[in-house]
Amino acid sequence: MKVLITLADVEPAVRLNALLEANGTKTAVVSPLDDLRGEIKRFKPDLIVLTGNLGDPINVQIVRDQLWSGTSVIGLADVEDPELRDRLRTLGFTDVYTKPISADELYLAVRRVLDRKRLTEATGLFGQSEAINEVLLKIEQIAPVSSTVIIEGESGTGKELVAQAIHKLSPRRGKPFIAVNAGALPETLIESELFGHEKGAFTGAAERRIGRFELANEGTLFLDEIGEIPPSTQVKLLRVLEERKLTRVGGTTQIPINVRVVAATNRPLREGVEEGRFRADLYYRLNVLSIYLPPLRERREDIPLLVRRFIQEFSSQHDRTFQGISADAMQILMGYPWPGNVRGGHSARDQRRRVGPLPTGPRGAGRARRRRCGRSRAGVSGEEHVGASPPG
Ligand SMILES: Nc1ncnc2c1ncn2[C@@H]1O[C@H](COP(=O)(O)OP(=O)(O)OP(=O)(O)O)[C@@H](O)[C@H]1O
Ligand SMILES: [Mg+2]
Repeated sequence: MKVLITLADVEPAVRLNALLEANGTKTAVVSPLDDLRGEIKRFKPDLIVLTGNLGDPINVQIVRDQLWSGTSVIGLADVEDPELRDRLRTLGFTDVYTKPISADELYLAVRRVLDRKRLTEATGLFGQSEAINEVLLKIEQIAPVSSTVIIEGESGTGKELVAQAIHKLSPRRGKPFIAVNAGALPETLIESELFGHEKGAFTGAAERRIGRFELANEGTLFLDEIGEIPPSTQVKLLRVLEERKLTRVGGTTQIPINVRVVAATNRPLREGVEEGRFRADLYYRLNVLSIYLPPLRERREDIPLLVRRFIQEFSSQHDRTFQGISADAMQILMGYPWPGNVRGGHSARDQRRRVGPLPTGPRGAGRARRRRCGRSRAGVSGEEHVGASPPG
């Protein structure tokens, strides 16, 4: 990872530089008066620590261009100004601090951003909210062990992405990741799907079938919508988890299995236990480790990053040039309730593909959507396009 530091004061810059280099991070220090853009082009940093007048159009333009290439920016503001801080966060600054800040504090801030960046790259999970930060750290922490995990969160909050990330960061990464959606399977099929069946186990069982548990051997089994598993199967699942052995439907032999189970649910499993739909013993057996993904409306700081991420993905997939998104439009997107969570963003992007490009100004779609959600924010005015045409 490479960090470009623009600091006017030599002493903290030197100290920060030394701390980062001791940690194996490549750094370059420039004075705010130097040719920052040229330096960025040459050094290609992953993170920029930016000082000076952060609201200056030149700096804003630099940040916009950098965001587009995936660089993070930490801003050091001269004076405490909550309004400016919010505006900069909307623009995409990763963090904004107010001076004076010690080199050691700044070092920790830089480390936090670099750690998050590394984890984002490893997992594909984007966000700059405290909630996502915690989720990323938790994934890293729990990936190496084989305990079962429950992931809870509304539909579209990224549960499957988290399950895949746990697998990817685990020692099981070279082995299969198998997903089963319990909610999509009829009750009669679920056991055979999970544990397999022997030839002639039931009418229609013409051949032996290997179940998902066996397919996931040495890897990870993702049990999606675990709350939908019928009570009779819950008992069997509990036994398999406890004994680490299974018997195929209609079979007699016990087959040893080595599978890490990651389960997901979009309704709190606790409620299922309280309402008697889900066995308490299975709940406790599964709930060794847990991760909660809050809905997007409770982590609005993630919206700018996700919006840019999806637009960028879309642009590169369809060979389109993206003109920009106005600060006003971004404010509207940040105020939107996002009932479909992150999936909503994804499909909004895909719908856009069918209907053509999204207007970039506050007119058009932005205004229509604002009317629909009945909220109008006195957003940041002016032409503050975030992002630019991809470099070409
Ligand atoms: N933080 C994130 N960063 C990038 N992409 C994300 C993030 N969260 C979710 N997504 C994307 O949003 C979509 C929905 O995510 P996912 O399928 O993991 O949600 P889910 O919680 O499993 O939803 P459901 O309960 O409906 O199955 C996927 O395309 C996923 O890649
Ligand atoms: Mg899912």
